Amino acid sequence: MKLWGGRFTKETDQLVHNFNASISFDQKFYKQDILGSIAHVTMLEKQGILEQAEKETIIEGLKSILTDIESGALEITAEHEDIHSFVEANLISRIGEPGKKLHTGRSRNDQVALDMKLYTRDEIVTLNDLLKELLITIHGIMKANTETFMPGFTHLQKAQPVTLAHHFGAYFEMFRRDRSRLRDIYDRMNYCPLGAGALAGTTYPLDRNKTSALLNFDGPTLNSMDSVSDRDYLIELLSALSTIMMHLSRFCEEIIVWNSNEYQFVEIDDSYSTGSSIMPQKKNPDIAELVRGKTGRVYGALISILTTMKGLPLAYNKDMQEDKELTFDAIDTVKGCISLFTGMISTMKFNAGRMEASARNGFTNATDAADYLVKHGIPFRDAHGIIGQLVLLCIGKNISLDELPLDEYKKISPVFEEDIYDAISMKTCVEKRNTIGAPGGDAMKQVIAINEKYLLES
Ligand code: ARG
Repeated sequence: MKLWGGRFTKETDQLVHNFNASISFDQKFYKQDILGSIAHVTMLEKQGILEQAEKETIIEGLKSILTDIESGALEITAEHEDIHSFVEANLISRIGEPGKKLHTGRSRNDQVALDMKLYTRDEIVTLNDLLKELLITIHGIMKANTETFMPGFTHLQKAQPVTLAHHFGAYFEMFRRDRSRLRDIYDRMNYCPLGAGALAGTTYPLDRNKTSALLNFDGPTLNSMDSVSDRDYLIELLSALSTIMMHLSRFCEEIIVWNSNEYQFVEIDDSYSTGSSIMPQKKNPDIAELVRGKTGRVYGALISILTTMKGLPLAYNKDMQEDKELTFDAIDTVKGCISLFTGMISTMKFNAGRMEASARNGFTNATDAADYLVKHGIPFRDAHGIIGQLVLLCIGKNISLDELPLDEYKKISPVFEEDIYDAISMKTCVEKRNTIGAPGGDAMKQVIAINEKYLLES
């Protein structure tokens, strides 16, 4: 079963075989391995290294392997070291002699570098699409909630009133940046390592531009040693995935708080909640907690690969085989988290009444009250002090600034008139904040239009 038995006089110890083998996980890219081989033999024939008939037989054989794996007729079995050995051995058993020429001018080092890139590239496209779905969902919630008032927080203390659209808009920006990071990674990694050989190229007259073009790369990589030992794109991807998870985790944390009995800003749908085995009243936000929890796992993958790559001499080293399980796991985890999160927020109910009441009760209009005084000629620092005293007075009376009678205002500063109530109303506080990026209705509409255009174009 070995590709490399010739030089050996003894069988590999079974434990060594198991420890060394990667087939249990690299079978994940059987399809990319086969497509890479098809491009390779297409190029070999064009360069006169293979006969046309040989090429055709090999390609037919490879395609039948692909069909059989996909239909379940062919099982990928563990006696092979890796997916590359499995495909080659199976090809030879199917088509005989021509199959033995598949690996001409190629090493598993450039082969695995290619397969991993092809696999990752496909997954980046899927991740990008999932993020777009999430952005479309957030966008819909924003459009419907430009007048849903809620408190904005700093230090998790009520600060100034915002809208639900504005709060969700912050996450729109984050996930939009995540998509652009994925795009950058895609562009930077999109160079084909095939033809780099084991580390020093080959003596065959390979056409690396041809294989690169056949596999939709922007060109061949330019240094064969780097080609087989570069895993930067995985580090970049795991970093981008970690950032996506960090964003999802922050969002989940907020939803968990908002869904709590104390806040009740939102209610997670029954279909996205779980119960308790002992407490009959419970409805728990397990999905949000799990997404938050899985963040650690994705960060772990990043730290793991950074550590694996540190100190590796050029060029290929077997350490690099460790790049796969953690990358696959991180990609699958993030894909699952984005989909579930999207489903959770698209079915979640927003309790606009609770949010607005909470914004009213937390002196979120205190800054606007100070600004009212500034407009009447009082320096801001003095205004800050005056409103501070009024807040203290209201706390003592257990009322909001809106409920404080005008004569109480006047006792502290004669500048106050009846129009103070309008100046500090929730609507005014939000609506007057209309510079681009602020929660005011006009500003939000502009941003929503920008977002809409972005979603149509990318
Ligand atoms: N399974 C190996 C990996 O994932 C494939 C490359 C093997 N190359 C070698 N020189 N042993 O890295």
